[in-house]
Amino acid sequence: SSSYEAKFRVWRGDTDGGELTDFAVEVNEGEVVLDIIHRIQATAAPDLAVRWNCKAGKCGSCSAEINGRPRLLCMTRMSVFPRDETVTVTPLRAFPVIRDLVTDVSFNYAKAREIPAFVPPPGVAAGAYRMRQIDVERSQEFRKCIECFLCQDTCHVVRDHEENKPAFAGPRFLMRVAELDMHPLDAAGESGIDRARSAQDEHGLGYCNITKCCTEVCPEGIRITDNALIPLKERAVDRKYDPLVWLGNKIGRR
Ligand code: SF4
Ligand code: F3S
Ligand code: FES
Repeated sequence: SSSYEAKFRVWRGDTDGGELTDFAVEVNEGEVVLDIIHRIQATAAPDLAVRWNCKAGKCGSCSAEINGRPRLLCMTRMSVFPRDETVTVTPLRAFPVIRDLVTDVSFNYAKAREIPAFVPPPGVAAGAYRMRQIDVERSQEFRKCIECFLCQDTCHVVRDHEENKPAFAGPRFLMRVAELDMHPLDAAGESGIDRARSAQDEHGLGYCNITKCCTEVCPEGIRITDNALIPLKERAVDRKYDPLVWLGNKIGRR
């Protein structure tokens, strides 16, 4: 038959601690893990806290860990698990728990605020910006980010190292620095902001040892490591050790 009963183990608790709770719950053809969590709410645990919004992999709200792996609850099909396997659902490990599956992700908002915004080129009216198609496409990939923070949760630099958090922006925000650094119209340099250098000196790029775990968990398939972090490292190093390369980059952009 297409319906069966699955074994679920869900973390329940709050800031004072908690424990895994077992549920036996019906699963139907085509369902995703979020459907099962909703069924647990509807039947056994009406006060089970879970954050979600779109159920389409686009809002980035339903991030949690399934069998220890950071994933979107709404995009993980039940069919990927053997029927007799216990499915364990826990909150994101790198961020403080609020209740049950809901974590406090404000670390990420704080990191976002530390990155200076795009600086429009002086003397060019909005609407008169022109970019080459290749530059548009490069940043388009990064702009697919849904801010689910799965990459931030999985990166080993902070996952088990609370002490690294103040100095490390995490892959999502280093990618943001890379995007702005590659942007041909960003005029931050003219106000004395060297984006690649700040990635190294202020946002902890040096902590990243390119393990690519961030890329592996990204639900948007963004090649965070290859297309953002490694190029950013190359540019940061070039400018630090070779002022002529830095100058060349500046002139080459005009
Ligand atoms: Fe999520 Fe990918 Fe954006 Fe990271 S880069 S927050 S994994 S969508
Ligand atoms: Fe972390 Fe990704 Fe670098 S997982 S170490 S930011 S490649
Ligand atoms: Fe929106 Fe899962 S509910 S991404």
